[in-house]
Amino acid sequence: MSTLETTVSIYDDFAAVKAKTESRSRKVDRDNRETVGMPFVANPRMTCRQVNVFYGEKHAIKNVSIDIGKNEVLAMIGPSGCGKSTFLRCLNRMNDTVAGCRVTGEIHLDNRNIYDGNIDVVPLRAQVGMVFQKPNPFPKSIYDNVAYGPKIHGLASSRTELADIVEDSLKRAGLWNEVNDRLDKPGTGLSGGQQQRLCIARAIAVRPEIILMDEPCSALDPIATATVEELISGLKEQYSIVIVTHNMQQAARVSQRTAYFHLGDLVEVGQTDRIFTNPSHQLTEDYITGRFG
Ligand SMILES: Nc1ncnc2c1ncn2[C@@H]1O[C@H](COP(=O)(O)OP(=O)(O)OP(=O)(O)O)[C@@H](O)[C@H]1O
Ligand SMILES: [Mg+2]
Repeated sequence: MSTLETTVSIYDDFAAVKAKTESRSRKVDRDNRETVGMPFVANPRMTCRQVNVFYGEKHAIKNVSIDIGKNEVLAMIGPSGCGKSTFLRCLNRMNDTVAGCRVTGEIHLDNRNIYDGNIDVVPLRAQVGMVFQKPNPFPKSIYDNVAYGPKIHGLASSRTELADIVEDSLKRAGLWNEVNDRLDKPGTGLSGGQQQRLCIARAIAVRPEIILMDEPCSALDPIATATVEELISGLKEQYSIVIVTHNMQQAARVSQRTAYFHLGDLVEVGQTDRIFTNPSHQLTEDYITGRFG
């Protein structure tokens, strides 16, 4: 190899390393509000396209397109008021219950747009279940909290079958061992962490395929939080889970993909570890490094 060739090849290596380093540090500009990263997946369970949400004149979600994959936990993060809960509620038409709220765009589940006029929201909300920030058990017994959904959806043909669904759901929610000797006691008498697992059992009992969770651990202590996080990781074997969280460590622990929202825009979606170590968008970096929000 001539001296010239050696020099060129060293220079090439140097240029490659330099380009790589620059691409790591160069971020998409703050003014760019196109979604960057990986909003779409090869094997989607739900597809959301150009979703907009308005509360009266307020444009709360702006042209958001994203897929929810099979057997994935997708975390949604972003500053308060950026639209995480609003977008989550679009996925099972919970926004229908909010006065003055209007949704446009398409959200497909099983090749149907869930916003089509002929969609019945009752089975939809069983298929796409929801767990709220504050555990909200019904003022009923532990047993009846879990049995209620299967009863109204006609999922059990006998009392034995219903009892089996209740037991199975409580087991999968990691609560059975703590409550099997007091199923007739009020659900509201459980601890906060137990109540949240009861609400998860209630959501699971109607055989959902997708579970939406809006800050499910924000009212829980660290031990109860760890139990619920473990549960979420186990549940993804069977379900797709979308979780809103303000806790970035939690997003990092439980999710495979993370979506960052900013003032109604979906700014970036990517593999969770990459979002937290090397985000592509300056706004994502500002948020995860604590400069915004
Ligand atoms: N029922 C409503 N009527 C009018 N505006 C609303 C309503 N609900 C939410 N908004 C507005 O829509 C925007 C998005 O709110 P949203 O609750 O979805 O934010 P968020 O990201 O979940 O915030 P947080 O992290 O505080 O829960 C906010 O500006 C909020 O004030
Ligand atoms: Mg919210």
